[in-house]
Amino acid sequence: MSLNKSNRRIRLKSRPDGMPDEGTWELNRAAIRSPDANEILVKVSYVSIDPAMRGWISDQESYLPPVAIGETMRALAIGQVLESQHEAYQTGDFVSGMFGVQEYATLQPDASVAVIDPQLAALTTQLGVLGMPGMTAYFGLLDVGQPKQGETLLVSGAAGAVGALVGQIGRLQGCRVVGVAGGREKCEFLTDVLGFDDAIDYKAEKDLGAALGRACPEGIDIFFDNVGGDLLEATLFHLSHRARVVICGAISQYNCADSVSAQINYIPILYRSARLEGFVVLDYMPRYGEAVEALSGWLSEDLICPHEDVREGIEKFPQTLNALFSGKNFGKLILKLDTAE
Ligand SMILES: NC(=O)c1ccc[n+]([C@@H]2O[C@H](COP(=O)([O-])OP(=O)(O)OC[C@H]3O[C@@H](n4cnc5c(N)ncnc54)[C@H](OP(=O)(O)O)[C@@H]3O)[C@@H](O)[C@H]2O)c1
Repeated sequence: MSLNKSNRRIRLKSRPDGMPDEGTWELNRAAIRSPDANEILVKVSYVSIDPAMRGWISDQESYLPPVAIGETMRALAIGQVLESQHEAYQTGDFVSGMFGVQEYATLQPDASVAVIDPQLAALTTQLGVLGMPGMTAYFGLLDVGQPKQGETLLVSGAAGAVGALVGQIGRLQGCRVVGVAGGREKCEFLTDVLGFDDAIDYKAEKDLGAALGRACPEGIDIFFDNVGGDLLEATLFHLSHRARVVICGAISQYNCADSVSAQINYIPILYRSARLEGFVVLDYMPRYGEAVEALSGWLSEDLICPHEDVREGIEKFPQTLNALFSGKNFGKLILKLDTAE
């Protein structure tokens, strides 16, 4: 590799007020830095585009510090080691980690940088089903949601990276699975391809409460929520006794300029003896191996279906990220970087 080539990277130019726009980002070029002692140089191939990125560029307390103005945008990614000054990594290794939205990353690996086996699954699948969304679906549903045979599981954001997997894992646990997604095409995909029992197109429904009542006549035992807001509130009125509401995400609220807009009437949680519990997938990092083993087993038996939406080119990062907030992605959203020599 010639180090004469420059590294294109996306930097945070200003904090958005609402939806990120052209003023939020800067495409910048810098020299590629050779690794020092204990560092590696990674050529980044695929960047994971995640709703969490919106939180990372807010100046608000979260589970990770905000990305600073002028800093390369934080991102999970997969790439290949071009040069290593670290004994645990060899040139040619495929690695996943927080490499950022950039074509080349020179860094001292932390615990999140893992050598991956390219034979296990496609690299994109290792960012999806076997990556962070897979870990989120697996632990969020099985550990927090605790599904039981015959229960009704409702999933919002159901055609997305996490939601589609939650529904499929729920089916494997013997649940009756209902998905909520935007648009007919996504809903038909859930029932006809992924085997969900029913799907609600929230964009076409005038009365969400009535739609929930029709789709979940016995009540909702587990609500795996990726969306928050009005849907969360409507769902609370259809909970079964001792229901579990898993707060995985609240994407409907991430671009609210000031604070979350929904005033949730939480009283049904009381009279249904229900539980509402949030979680952050990073807490499960010591147990990721367990999830990768189960998920790769289900993949190899065709019991779950990976669904990825791969876009190309680092310059497309701004519109690719925004696709998440308008439902223009269909499956795990990934940006392929064109770093051909
Ligand atoms: N707790 C954790 O550790 C953790 C880890 C990873 C992800 N998450 C959360 O999991 C959720 C899903 O993430 P993902 O990566 O799988 O994204 P995704 O579902 O693949 O993509 C986001 C989807 O959200 C839906 N959406 C966007 N705005 C919406 C709105 N206003 N109302 C309803 N739906 C809306 C869109 O689907 P439609 O077309 O159906 O509207 C869009 O396709 C996010 O909330 C994310 O923050 C949490």
